[in-house]
Amino acid sequence: DDFASRFDPDQRRRTNSINLFSPSKINLFLRVTAKRPDGYHDLASLFHVIDLGDRLKFTLGPGRKDALTSNARWVPLGKDNLVIKALDVFRAKTGIPQYFWIHLDKKVPTGAGLGGGSGNAATALWAANELTGRPASNAQLLEWSADIGSDVPVFFSRGAAYCTGRGEIVEDIQPPPVPLDTPMVLIKPRASCKTPAVFKKFSLERASSADPRELLRSITEHGIRQEFCVNDLEEPAFEVLPSLKRLKERISSGGRGKYSAVFMSGSGSTIVGVGDPEPPQFIYDEERYQDVFTEAAYFLTREEDEWYRPSRAMEA
Ligand code: C5P
Repeated sequence: DDFASRFDPDQRRRTNSINLFSPSKINLFLRVTAKRPDGYHDLASLFHVIDLGDRLKFTLGPGRKDALTSNARWVPLGKDNLVIKALDVFRAKTGIPQYFWIHLDKKVPTGAGLGGGSGNAATALWAANELTGRPASNAQLLEWSADIGSDVPVFFSRGAAYCTGRGEIVEDIQPPPVPLDTPMVLIKPRASCKTPAVFKKFSLERASSADPRELLRSITEHGIRQEFCVNDLEEPAFEVLPSLKRLKERISSGGRGKYSAVFMSGSGSTIVGVGDPEPPQFIYDEERYQDVFTEAAYFLTREEDEWYRPSRAMEA
């Protein structure tokens, strides 16, 4: 494919900026099936995109450098931000020397297991393609996105996806038979989990023996139940962050929330409670939980909401 020849600066989008929603994800189950020689692990996981997300504004830049700004002080603004990495991948793959001004309005916590940074990267890839006159197909963007991180390709799925490999092999599935407006509560302590540290603590002997295809079939048939929401990274994450185990126990056992399932997302440190809109009581009761991030969220699929299509309301 000769992307550069298809790039005509005059054919760019007439508006030179777009404002986009950048969703996050949870893992309804996550099995780790093998340790690989390349340093990664093979996964089998049910990812679901959710409606907690950031806002990103992309503008065609006049110069030869990307410029990233953010409302959040803790967001890295250089090469270690996956948005910049995504734009570098776009330029490398297409040969199009276009740079951007980006503003990132951050809402999704980082180090949370919610794929916030990965979602931003997918949104950046999509936006760069859009603003340069769509030289690449969605399938190509999905393929390129695996170079940015293992959790990026799922953001080109329809929203509910069975992911294997290191997470980058994405298979769209029938969403679980629960209404999209099934409420969930996301609870994240201030402390984060670093993905490589969590994987380092993982050992195959401790993994669940559940067949992931069977888990997928069970969820599709019976809905989201505690016994299907297995996450092999929970035990290793609890070793990295011992207070997380107590947090999960307290959410499962106490308070107002009556969840049909409570589980950790990704490599942590977010604990998800599905099926009840009430946050656990203790978050208000106890001073030491004041730093806990709590949000309500809902499932999101592309049937319902083309999350990358700038709606009129979202247009800059
Ligand atoms: O692909 P990504 O850059 O998101 O992965 C970050 C780190 O997480 C990897 O360097 C690796 O240590 C760990 N990881 C893993 N197996 C995966 C995904 C991530 O071991 N499937």
